[in-house]
Formats: sequence, structure tokens, C-alpha cells
Amino acid sequence: MTIQRITSKWDKTKVLLRNTAFHRLIPETAKLSKASLGEMLGRYGMVYVKPNRGTFGNGVIRVEKVKRGFKYQTGTKIRVFANLDSLYSHVKRTTGRRLFLVQKGIQLLKHANRRFDFRVMVQLSPKGKWETTGIIGRLAYPKKIVTNYHSGGTPLPFEKLMSTHMNGSQQQNYMSMLRKMGIQVAQHMQSTYPRIKEIGIDVAVDSKLNPWILEVNTKPDPYIFRKLKDRSVFQKVYRYAVAYGRLKGKRT
Ligand SMILES: Nc1ncnc2c1ncn2[C@@H]1O[C@H](COP(=O)(O)OP(=O)(O)O)[C@@H](O)[C@H]1O
Ligand SMILES: [Mg+2]
Repeated sequence: MTIQRITSKWDKTKVLLRNTAFHRLIPETAKLSKASLGEMLGRYGMVYVKPNRGTFGNGVIRVEKVKRGFKYQTGTKIRVFANLDSLYSHVKRTTGRRLFLVQKGIQLLKHANRRFDFRVMVQLSPKGKWETTGIIGRLAYPKKIVTNYHSGGTPLPFEKLMSTHMNGSQQQNYMSMLRKMGIQVAQHMQSTYPRIKEIGIDVAVDSKLNPWILEVNTKPDPYIFRKLKDRSVFQKVYRYAVAYGRLKGKRT
């Protein structure tokens, strides 16, 4: 029995949207076209454009409506385009014929003036029950628009990143809410993709502290949890991954 992987962000978003309970968690997402880009910028003022099958934050673009037109950023490179036509023809140069998505942009919370979001790891336990085994924050490299470890992001404990945004008991409540949400998302995804064993949900938190699901990964990196001082988190993540055959057990 092989572990099921789904790479299309568009497919996974459509699957999530079949459950109305998730609607308030999912930023509006559309296939990229000049029309969808213009409409979403009009509606939200800021959007993210990303490859349908992307990883590591590669190819992700942030576009924001500004006085002089549209501010475009990828990596740390910023440009301003005077109108939608010039913006879109530039975007098209990088996207080519590949499918890209445009998504409502969430103003990520900041820590030390850097953006951050969270990774919620949910795994099938050896007993066959979905369990949220880890939550970790990811702090973007200075001035970057993506938080991915492979784009220079730094994994940090939830508490460290949230300390200036909520008190200790609020943090505990928020994490237990994320843990429950993780399990619900996994159960729902499993109803369409019966052979998934693990998911890693990228969760943004906005200034009102509302959570948003940016994407659901079906091959989440377990090693990011090695960065936590609390070794028990990684040990469990690893043990479960070995049990369902994702990782080889340590040879002794
Ligand atoms: N709609 C969005 N609003 C705010 N930030 C976003 C949005 N979409 C993506 N990002 C940022 O870009 C990162 C990479 O996007 P993601 O959709 O997870 O693609 P990838 O598969 O490359 O990880 C996210 O972790 C987040 O930091
Ligand atoms: Mg991601």
C-alpha cells in the first residue's frame, strides 16, 4: 500500500471546499488569468500568485494595489507596474503556460519585523487514528514574502512567535483549536484520498488572529520538527512516519 500524494493545489482546494465548515478558513482561490487577477486585487487589495504544483515557496509572487499601480514582489525583488496590463504581461513571463493560482493575500503576523506562519503536522497513528503530532512556526527570511525553510525561513516554537500577539492561555487555546482543525482537515481529505497517511497544513494568522489554510501538503517535511527543543515532538513525528512506511527506521 503506497502513501498517496496529491500535488495540485487547485484540486486540494476544491476538495476542501466541499466541506462548508472549512469555507471561512480558505482564502478565495482562482486559476490565474488577467481577469481573475484584476478582480481579486479589486476585492482584496493584496493577492498571492503561486504555481499550482509548487514547493519550497518557489515562484510565489505577492501583488498589492498601491497608489501608483501595483506593487509586485518575488523573492526580495520589488517592482511597481502602472496598470493591470503591464503587471499581467510581466507575470506571464514567469508563469508561461503553467497553471498558476491567485489567492486572497493574508497579511501575515510579524515577529521582529519578519512575516511568519505555521505548519500543522497531522499523521495517522499506528492505531489508525488521525493525530496532530506537531505545530511549528516558520519565520520568513528578512523582507521575504514566503516563510518556507527552503527559502531561508527559520523554524521557531509557536509560543515564541505569538508571545507579542496573545497571552499564554490564549496561545494554549489557539494551539488546541489548530490541533482539532488539523484532524478535521485530515479526515475530510481522507474521504477523497483514502491512502494518505500524513498532511502538513500551512496556516496563516491575520491581524485579527483568524486562521487561514494556505495549503495542505501531502508530503510534509518531518525534519523541521527537529528544530524544536522539545525532542518528544520530533520523536513522535518520526515514529509515526516509520510506522506507515514513509521513513526507514534507524538501523542499529
Ligand atoms: N494567500 C497567501 N497570503 C499570505 N501568504 C501566503 C499566501 N499564500 C502563500 N503565502 C506564503 O507563501 C508561502 C508558500 O506558499 P504555499 O502556498 O505554501 O506554496 P509552497 O508549496 O511553495 O509552500 C506560504 O508558506 C506563505 O508564507
Ligand atoms: Mg507551503
